[in-house]
Amino acid sequence: MRRAAIVGTGAIATSHAEALRAAGDRVELVAVVDVDEQRATAFAQEWNVPRVHPGLATLLDVEELDVVHVCTPPRSHTPLALECLAANVNVLVEKPPAVSLSEIDTLIAAERGSTGRVATVFQHRFGPAAHRLRRLIADGVLGRSLVAKSDTLWYRDGAYFDVPWRGTWESEGGGPTMGHGIHQFDLMLSVLGPWQEIRAVAARQSRAVQTEDLSMALVTFADGTVASVINSVLSPRETSQLRFDFENATVEVEHLYGYTDAHWTVTSAPGHDDVVARWNEEQSTVVSSHGCQLAAFLDALDSDETPPVTLADTRTTMEFIAALYASAFTGTVVKAGQIGPDSPFYATMEGIGAPWANAR
Ligand SMILES: NC(=O)c1ccc[n+]([C@@H]2O[C@H](COP(=O)([O-])OP(=O)(O)OC[C@H]3O[C@@H](n4cnc5c(N)ncnc54)[C@H](O)[C@@H]3O)[C@@H](O)[C@H]2O)c1
Repeated sequence: MRRAAIVGTGAIATSHAEALRAAGDRVELVAVVDVDEQRATAFAQEWNVPRVHPGLATLLDVEELDVVHVCTPPRSHTPLALECLAANVNVLVEKPPAVSLSEIDTLIAAERGSTGRVATVFQHRFGPAAHRLRRLIADGVLGRSLVAKSDTLWYRDGAYFDVPWRGTWESEGGGPTMGHGIHQFDLMLSVLGPWQEIRAVAARQSRAVQTEDLSMALVTFADGTVASVINSVLSPRETSQLRFDFENATVEVEHLYGYTDAHWTVTSAPGHDDVVARWNEEQSTVVSSHGCQLAAFLDALDSDETPPVTLADTRTTMEFIAALYASAFTGTVVKAGQIGPDSPFYATMEGIGAPWANAR
């Protein structure tokens, strides 16, 4: 049986504990850590976790671990993951795994010198329908991808940003692009493959935050698909939507924080009814959740493969975010590969600074 620990026993740690429990005898949650030791102790009691440690250093010292789940606020993700890699322990880190492209590259370099691997939590890549969609594309059933859109229209009121780690470049690395829409456009990237260039706008419309509370982008993919991406925390009727128009069918999902097959629809183009039949060959009621990703993570460990989502895949998504901010704040088109160490958007997502900050 694999042995896991959780660092950071706040809100999302519950989803990790549920996923670990659902994995049955494949993995045991043996210890937890939180800077708030009382919170860690209460969490350990609730989830029957045998041990609470005062910090990650002690945890890594005392326990024999296969994986550390990093569930702390974004700023601490990379430092904690680096500590795990130094101890040759695998890490399953919550999104975003880093607050800059530079931090991602530090992780990639550290992973080369470790037997540990870093996987990022992007649980919506792992729902059954996402697997099916990628398979039908690979099999040529859907034809060429032409148009797509990713809408993350969520609502977060002012009180949501009272939590000290929310709403600043320093603590979160960005606004809804980095923290919310990331789920949807990461899934879009996992379906459509490499993106090529991006034109974006970001705005701070309403919330008392340093970062944007809205961003919009037009994206061209290497396969020629043109897509729009919206990331908002200002939208009272909340929805998470992806739409893909292929030559042979439109494939759509509309959900909020997790989808099952019931949230997907497939509409065939004239003469392509077979696409709907192929889609319906499999059916599932499984929710795209931490449980799906943990199962894939454990499968990879069992077969000696790099657990998903790998740092290379995560880098594509993080570079997309850096490029979105660079495009929005410079008013230019930004191409994949353009943001290297010399770019101001490499070390921080804020780059040259948001227009609303510079206007003050
Ligand atoms: N995958 C998803 O669907 C999803 C959903 C919500 C949040 N998240 C991500 O999960 C992360 C945590 O979010 P949350 O809402 O659970 O936050 P939270 O504030 O509820 O919990 C964070 C916990 O980490 C602890 N902590 C902070 N720094 C620490 C450190 N250095 N060492 C140990 N413990 C530390 C805090 O005391 C707190 O208990 C964020 O990165 C967030 O973006 C992911």
